Amino acid sequence: MGAQETESESPHAGAGRTTGVQQGPSADTQRAAASVPEVGASSAEAPPIVDSGNENEDERVQTSVSEGSPAGDEDLDVATWDSQSDGGDSAYEELQSQTASVTSSIMAGHWENGRRYHAYQSGQYLFPDDEQEQDRLDVKYAAIHLTYGNKLAFAPLNNPQHALDVGTGTGIWAIDFAEEHPQCTVSAIDLSPIQPTWVPPNVKFEIDDCEQDWTWPIAHFDYVHLRTMAAAIRNWDRLFAQAYRHTRPGGYIELQEMDYMGVIQSTSRNPGTAFIQWCTEQGKAAAKVGINLRMIPNVMVEQLRRAGFVDVTVHEFRCPIGPWAAEKKMRDAGILQLSAVLDGLEGLTLKLSRFYEGWTRQELDVLLAKVRTELKSKECHAYWPVNVVYGRKPE
Ligand SMILES: C[S@@+](CC[C@H](N)C(=O)[O-])C[C@H]1O[C@@H](n2cnc3c(N)ncnc32)[C@H](O)[C@@H]1O
Repeated sequence: MGAQETESESPHAGAGRTTGVQQGPSADTQRAAASVPEVGASSAEAPPIVDSGNENEDERVQTSVSEGSPAGDEDLDVATWDSQSDGGDSAYEELQSQTASVTSSIMAGHWENGRRYHAYQSGQYLFPDDEQEQDRLDVKYAAIHLTYGNKLAFAPLNNPQHALDVGTGTGIWAIDFAEEHPQCTVSAIDLSPIQPTWVPPNVKFEIDDCEQDWTWPIAHFDYVHLRTMAAAIRNWDRLFAQAYRHTRPGGYIELQEMDYMGVIQSTSRNPGTAFIQWCTEQGKAAAKVGINLRMIPNVMVEQLRRAGFVDVTVHEFRCPIGPWAAEKKMRDAGILQLSAVLDGLEGLTLKLSRFYEGWTRQELDVLLAKVRTELKSKECHAYWPVNVVYGRKPE
């Protein structure tokens, strides 16, 4: 995975960059990284993408090695950058102009149907990343936070030093966790550069694709965290295998996942038919693009065990959609969640709409309108199952 880091001392700075450089999007983002503070790469990352002007790359490497460079390929290219006599200036100018254009395209994202989507690894993730979606993420975060009793982590962590937030979104969990654990370096990755700039010093945001090869050191993290990533991941087994490899013995992985198959509980006087139909159709459409929206505990437990994690523990919660719960805290969570769903419904459906088999766009719009009406009714007792599953890497 071609990570773009905020700080050069990050443990996986530069590691595994070769793969990223060889692949189009990663290479592009590395260029972009050079001038974007939040998502920028250290200067040590720039070398692999430099065109030194030497047509024979092997010769270029050989020359530099023979000059006694201790750091191999990457430092060789840095040296070429600084050269005033071998065309380094023009290479530098060219890189700067490439950097500017790739940076701006990544920051600008990709627009479709009036919504903005991530540009890095374009098409990988189905939901938008514009302000409307960022608001939805933050409101949803607040709803789930209340549902979890304001707990950020359930695994029995003991003075964690290195944590990873996979698919950080607006970075809100990573920031809260970093504040709660000031001794811990929190790396947080996402395809979209939608994280704030002013953050605790122990948070490092990176643009990265978690489904690519991880380049952090092996056995590095005390804690790997994923929240509401059901719609994002295509190959969970591979992801968990990588998480296992990069977690230190005794460290934890924790999934805080929403099951997108909502539930209408038995007290409901509104049957929530359209809502259930939307959940069902959405699940079927997502399956067609290789995504399983049903993050149910048994499946997560099985997957974590298969990856090698032990003492796998489940906590099950329900996050109401709407202000129908008796307990004040849950009513507040329900109001927030309702707002997130009403706000997000269109964005969540747009990209998948062409996989709604047998549905016209108009029929789908009608369905979404019915879902909104149902969920806004106080008589509709809908909720999302939001489950926490964590497991430990054996010592
Ligand atoms: C539903 S959001 C969850 C954000 C955050 N974890 C939260 O709970 O608020 C999913 C996030 O995963 C990111 N994402 C999707 N696929 C990804 C990938 N392959 N690698 C890294 N991030 C990814 C998306 O850009 C999006 O920000």
